[in-house]
Parts: sequence; C-alpha cells; structure tokens
Amino acid sequence: MITNRTFTMLKPDSVEKGNIGAIMNKINSAGFKILAMKLTQMSVSDAESFYSVHKDRPFFNDLVGYMTRGPIVAAILEKDNAVEDFRLLIGATNPADAAAGTIRNEFADSISENAVHGSDSDENAKIESDFHFSGREVY
Ligand code: CMP
Repeated sequence: MITNRTFTMLKPDSVEKGNIGAIMNKINSAGFKILAMKLTQMSVSDAESFYSVHKDRPFFNDLVGYMTRGPIVAAILEKDNAVEDFRLLIGATNPADAAAGTIRNEFADSISENAVHGSDSDENAKIESDFHFSGREVY
C-alpha cells in the first residue's frame, strides 16, 4: 500500500477561472512533489464511474455535469502523510466551512463547485491515480 501519495483534480471551475497556476503554487509551497500531471477532460461515463459512490445522492447528475463541462488538471502528489495533509490544505468540502488559507477558502465558490478534489484514503488515492494515469505517465 502506498502511504505517501495522493491524487488531486483541479476541477473545471478552477481551470475556467485561470487558477491552475495559483493553486499549483500553493500545492508546491506546501511541500507536495508532482509525480504526474495532465490537462484532460472526463467523459460522462468517466465521471459516473469516478463518482459512483455518490450515484444515489440528489446532487449526482449536477456533479457529473459539472465535472465533464470542461478540462480538469489531474495530478499525483507525493509527500509524507500525503492524503491527510492534502485534505488539510484543500479545506472542508463546503468552502463556507473551509479554514482561512485553504485552497477551497481562497478559490471555491460553493459546495457543488469546490475547486479541487483530494483523495480520502490511501486506497482511493491508488484507485483514482490508476483511473487517470498509466504507469509510464508517473515519475
Ligand atoms: P468532492 O468531495 O471532491 O467529491 C464529491 C463532490 O460532490 C464534492 O467534492 C462536491 O463537488 C460535490 N458535492 C458534495 N456534497 C454536495 C452537496 N451537498 N451538494 C452539491 N454537491 C456536492
């Protein structure tokens, strides 16, 4: 089991608003090393699969529409205690609850369009990384 990697997506709202550089700067400044990164767009079936844990939630269709409406930046990040530290860096799911200085506090507008994704466990970091990257894309 990998314990020092996490997976992130800068979501379509971050790309649309021109925030890729500013968000990546915060990620680098917090000590995360980039092992893989690409600009890519999820298909509807990609998003339905990636977010299948939420398939019965009332916001599922809106979530799929949001995540497929434009490109995202997908990345694999490395740092000691990566999953937990990255979730601290991005802040609460709802930006209204996100602590000052967190990415969602600074860059997200709402609970539904919350700027970034961060894996919630080492197991999901591996699953999500493998969903987006082949082995030769990871350094
Ligand atoms: P994230 O936690 O990265 O992954 C699931 C996403 O579903 C979440 O970010 C939000 O984009 C969205 N989401 C979670 N809760 C809600 C909600 N109550 N209403 C709308 N969207 C939500």
